[in-house]
Amino acid sequence: MMRVLSITVCAMFASANLSPAAAQSQTDASTIRAGHNIAVTRCIACHVVSPKQTLSPVLGPGIPSFEEIANRPGIAAASLAGSMKTARWHDYAMPAKLLPMSRISDTERAQVAAYILSLRSLH
Ligand code: HEC
Repeated sequence: MMRVLSITVCAMFASANLSPAAAQSQTDASTIRAGHNIAVTRCIACHVVSPKQTLSPVLGPGIPSFEEIANRPGIAAASLAGSMKTARWHDYAMPAKLLPMSRISDTERAQVAAYILSLRSLH
């Protein structure tokens, strides 16, 4: 399990930035797909990233699942991408540092925000 985490951390540092033009030319479906790829490679160590996920995250408990975040009242892509830059660990056993989602590019944050919002239940 530690190996999964270190791969995750390496992937975070190796991440390449996409140009904004490339992001704009993507369709919604491909943006969501790109966000899903980010979620399953870089967020899964701490978050339940999909309602179908059977493996528990290595870290936690108490970290919100992406489905739970998607269903918070008043959630929107811009505020979601913004809160990823400022969220800190609220567990006192952990250092109060910025979390890994603050260290991906703005394009990647927009993609993963689109993916999270796609999990919102329609009721
Ligand atoms: C090292 C563990 C860790 C990883 C990896 C991680 N997160 Fe988080 N994330 C957290 C914790 C802890 C919180 C809860 C912070 C709090 O208590 O408010 C959180 C909260 C969030 C929130 C909610 C912020 C809010 O407004 O409350 C979003 C959105 C989020 N993470 C997205 C992501 C995305 C996207 C990734 C992958 C790129 C990711 N996280 C990777 C630990 C992590």
